[in-house]
Amino acid sequence: MDRIMEHPILGESPEKKIVTFTYDGKTLEGLEGEPIAVALRAAGVMVHRYTKKRHEPRGVFCAIGRCTDCVMIVNGKPNVRTCITPLEEGMTVQTQYGVTAKEEQ
Ligand code: FES
Repeated sequence: MDRIMEHPILGESPEKKIVTFTYDGKTLEGLEGEPIAVALRAAGVMVHRYTKKRHEPRGVFCAIGRCTDCVMIVNGKPNVRTCITPLEEGMTVQTQYGVTAKEEQ
């Protein structure tokens, strides 16, 4: 995982439990309670969704739950803001195409 474990101002990161979740069918690991978007970023995932009309990729933009660029399908529910949703063991996370999991033709 690619993470800052010791920060010059904030100090050391507190110990957190490692959990597993699936991202588009792949098993990944993250830290329990961290935002889903942070776990994905640590695993190198930058694209969370594609826009409906122009099929353009989107990822984390505001990181505070205001813009919807980071929405994904989480446990079967679309439009979940992953930058403010805590990661839990066994979550299923999928790339969102428009408002669904699969690209529309
Ligand atoms: S990045 Fe803006 S709502 Fe998540």
